[in-house]
Amino acid sequence: MSNLNTERVLSVHHWNDSLFSFKTTRDPGLRFENGQFVMIGLEVEGRPLMRAYSIASPNYEDHLEFYSIKVPNGPLTSRLQHLQVGDNIRISKKPTGTLLLDDLRPAKHLYLLATGTGLAPFLSLIQEPEAYERYEKVILVHGVRFVSELAYAEFITQQLPENEFFGEQVRDKLIYYPTVTREPFRNQGRITELMRSGKLFEDIGLPRINPQDDRAMLCGSPAMLDDLDQMLTNEFDLKVSPRLGEPGDFVIERAFVEK
Ligand code: A2P
Repeated sequence: MSNLNTERVLSVHHWNDSLFSFKTTRDPGLRFENGQFVMIGLEVEGRPLMRAYSIASPNYEDHLEFYSIKVPNGPLTSRLQHLQVGDNIRISKKPTGTLLLDDLRPAKHLYLLATGTGLAPFLSLIQEPEAYERYEKVILVHGVRFVSELAYAEFITQQLPENEFFGEQVRDKLIYYPTVTREPFRNQGRITELMRSGKLFEDIGLPRINPQDDRAMLCGSPAMLDDLDQMLTNEFDLKVSPRLGEPGDFVIERAFVEK
């Protein structure tokens, strides 16, 4: 029996020249935790070419959503970017991943720290009512090079607070902090710099990250993950969850690969 389902593309949205997202049908048997990823791909010369993609939609929706970069000459994304409504796509049957609410010890604030398409698993998690039950504040920081890469900003700031089930908790608890590094914007600089200087905490009106009050989830490029891992450990005294099922102060998604 194949470990892949075949799904159908329902819609495609191009954010700019280098970023797009798409929705697919969802096999009713596919169960996942918000924050997890699956392998997705296409048949190329008779064989599936698969890469890890975080599921951007929450697990109570009947479709799946994915958010992708277009890598010039990337083996998969150079093909995936041409997806059309009605096309078939292969999706693995066993979701996995480390960005699990249950792998964080209880605390007051949850930081979701993303760069680029690392935003995807956090789109799912900010639609998880349990995140708002467990934390007083949920802080989503999204670092990008250019303003046009702040995908989903309108969804986060306009639609989510109006959600009929948990919009009130979003209004009360979700802090969205987009930051841009290569052109002017109201927030500027890398996440690492903004944390080290304390500017992030001043801007959002919360104390500096500390092991009593704060938990974090990280998703972005390998360099960003390494730097933030080091920083949270050495400068903020947080302890990483050592493995699945063993809670810590922060968790890291290392599924990112060249696409
Ligand atoms: P910068 O413009 O200074 O490189 P990328 O598209 O390369 O993944 O970058 C997305 C965002 O992440 C950019 O704003 C980039 O800043 C930032 N970034 C790149 N490397 C790191 C890092 N090691 N730590 C924190 N932020 C990073």
